[in-house]
Amino acid sequence: MSNEQEDFTVTTRKIQEESEIISVINSFDRSFPRPLSSRVENLSEYAKKLAKNAIFIVAEDNFNVIGFTAMYANDSISGQAYLAQIAVSKEYLGQKIGNLLLSLCEKTARENGMKTMKLEVDKINERAIEFYKKDGFLTESANDLSFFMVKNL
Ligand SMILES: CC(C)(COP(=O)(O)OP(=O)(O)OC[C@H]1O[C@@H](n2cnc3c(N)ncnc32)[C@H](O)[C@@H]1OP(=O)(O)O)[C@@H](O)C(=O)NCCC(=O)NCCS
Repeated sequence: MSNEQEDFTVTTRKIQEESEIISVINSFDRSFPRPLSSRVENLSEYAKKLAKNAIFIVAEDNFNVIGFTAMYANDSISGQAYLAQIAVSKEYLGQKIGNLLLSLCEKTARENGMKTMKLEVDKINERAIEFYKKDGFLTESANDLSFFMVKNL
């Protein structure tokens, strides 16, 4: 899929190769307000788990990965997809790349028979919370650190 931006063209593709997923996860570790590596025990093992069970999509500008998302859409009993990760490179923030990736996730989840999508976001991550709200996610519950948000697909 390709999408014309102001002065660059973004393409998206699903990736499945474990080594490629490990490399993307490592390169985006510090793109999150709290680095991924501080939230999971072992980043490579986490990436391997995603490679095995998640749908992993990257956005690219001229073959450079500028954003990615990972989503689980395999729970046919609950019909609930789970957005595990989404991030866009610093230089490309605010240019609708996040929107493009999220829309693609939602489309893919619907195609896999999912009815809702859930995610967890840090309470301090105001930018991401606004991003999800704008897309139609509503806060379903919360704990000390996180909001849990849901959207009907
Ligand atoms: C969250 C994230 C993926 C959004 O990606 P993005 O490409 O910058 O977002 P978009 O350009 O598609 O923005 C879509 C909407 O999100 C909201 N938004 C984006 N950036 C915002 C900001 N700095 N402040 C407030 N709202 C913002 C706006 O409503 C925007 O729509 P608008 O441009 O019409 O106002 C990106 O900020 C990111 O990578 N953050 C770091 C990683 C992260 O925190 N991921 C989420 C973990 S749960």
